[in-house]
Amino acid sequence: MGKDRGVVIINFKAYKEGFGENALKLAKIAEDVASRVDDYVAIAPNYLDLTTIMNRVNIDVYAQHVDAVGYGSHTGRVTAEMIKEKGVKGSLINHSERRLRLADIDFLVSKFKELGLTSVVCTNNVATTAAAAALSPDFVAVEPPELIGSGIPVSKAEPEVVENSVKAAKNVNSDVKVLCGAGIGKHEDYVTAMDLGADGVLLASGVVKAEDVRAALEELLGLR
Ligand code: G3P
Repeated sequence: MGKDRGVVIINFKAYKEGFGENALKLAKIAEDVASRVDDYVAIAPNYLDLTTIMNRVNIDVYAQHVDAVGYGSHTGRVTAEMIKEKGVKGSLINHSERRLRLADIDFLVSKFKELGLTSVVCTNNVATTAAAAALSPDFVAVEPPELIGSGIPVSKAEPEVVENSVKAAKNVNSDVKVLCGAGIGKHEDYVTAMDLGADGVLLASGVVKAEDVRAALEELLGLR
């Protein structure tokens, strides 16, 4: 992914609109819309849909969470090695709906580097963004939890969080890319985030739960 391209990662979460057949439709729309823009567009579907989707679309597919364990006696766990073996590009780590301990985040970021997976560490404010950047992940994604799923874009409601998170992260490690998320839905929200210094956005409901997913994604990417 080039430095000048905006980054858009769509998290399908556990939404019904983003699961099974709906997930595949959504992934195909994302692939099609992505082919018409310069932006880097990637998706993060549910585990159960990952391999089906990867076999059917040609955009990067991320997991929504990975457990901080290796292969072994761990019931119900998914490891970094497993997603690597399946061809997944990377994963969200420490999403606010799936928080991890600091030591687990550190373990996963290191493991991802070793395996060549892309790490997207989610944070909730400026201080945690700086702390996450110190672990040198590929991305830090700052998302104030109270705005998640609200339809109120973080880039407009709390621009200082975005701006200061970018400064704090780059101050710690200038190689870390910073995304922002929560309430992002419109092109204007995305552009504002980029103007505040972010490298892109992480979003879910604005696209996944939209009545017309194609129209929503095209609007987000400035095609309408
Ligand atoms: O992972 C993205 C997410 O937490 C933001 O959700 O619905 O506000 O775009 P949403």
